[in-house]
Amino acid sequence: MKHLLSAQDLTRDQAIQILDIAEEMAATQAREVKKLPTLRGQTVVNLFFEDSTRTRISFETAAKRLSADVINFSPKGSSVSKGESLKDTVLTLGAMHTDAIVVRHYASGAPYNIAHAGWTDACVINAGDGTHQHPTQSLLDAMTMRRHLMGPTPVGQDLNGLSIMIVGDVLHSRVARSGVDLFTTLGAKVTLVAPATLLPIGVDTWPCGVYYDLDQALREAPPDALMMLRVQKERMSAAGGGFFPSPQEYTRDYGLDEARLAALQRHAIVLHPGPMNRGLEITSGAADGARSVIVEQVANGVAVRMAVLYLTMTGAKGKVAA
Ligand code: NCD
Repeated sequence: MKHLLSAQDLTRDQAIQILDIAEEMAATQAREVKKLPTLRGQTVVNLFFEDSTRTRISFETAAKRLSADVINFSPKGSSVSKGESLKDTVLTLGAMHTDAIVVRHYASGAPYNIAHAGWTDACVINAGDGTHQHPTQSLLDAMTMRRHLMGPTPVGQDLNGLSIMIVGDVLHSRVARSGVDLFTTLGAKVTLVAPATLLPIGVDTWPCGVYYDLDQALREAPPDALMMLRVQKERMSAAGGGFFPSPQEYTRDYGLDEARLAALQRHAIVLHPGPMNRGLEITSGAADGARSVIVEQVANGVAVRMAVLYLTMTGAKGKVAA
């Protein structure tokens, strides 16, 4: 695997391989010395054109734990603010012998361009492009669900038979798109819940169920894993607003509160990719409660990104060197 651009590109076996290697990586993170020599001498550039806390720090941590050198690039303060193109930015990185480019970009498809336009030989990993894809997020979500819901020894397993519900701003969510692709590839049944204004045109062709009413969905398709999405206010205001009548109404109809939490199956878990709007799509009680695995998602993100960097940058097919 040279690049990771979309969850859609992953076969079931490839996805399981990444999750299994992520489990091995996670085991190394419990040691006193967390660093492995695997990528010593290689350079990873984090090329982030959009804001990020978790994803950028997670990729940086993952690369450093594998002993790579990490360069963090942000357009503010770079020549991008002078109008330099994506192409020239990438050519510049290539001239400095970058081995991998982790890219987050506001334009859907930018990572694909970087990988396939002949601008660089580096491995390209998509860390979120526009409203399109965020494959490492869906991998860390799958790792978290597999650990909690697929028995005590998840290695080698897929998500067969799980009911996964994704609620909220699907329209703007690359997390939802990647999730639908990956979770269905892994054998889960996915249900989306959102107001019609926050569902993309063509969602009826996606391999998942769709509900407009959250309480009806919770009754009729009770989830093993419930993923709440952030209301992406920045993308809404850029589009002129008007996606729902008021925040109060959104919370009443689509928010995860104590009553909805109490109605979940006993074993069900609650996920959120972060950053959360506490009080809008999720109450603090739900975010911090016993069913929440939100902090674990962040920890698993490091392990998944170590696995992805390892597999892409070493071209490895097999096991992790100890
Ligand atoms: C998500 C993103 O940026 O797509 N966050 C993340 O990577 N953890 C979701 C979001 O911004 O709502």
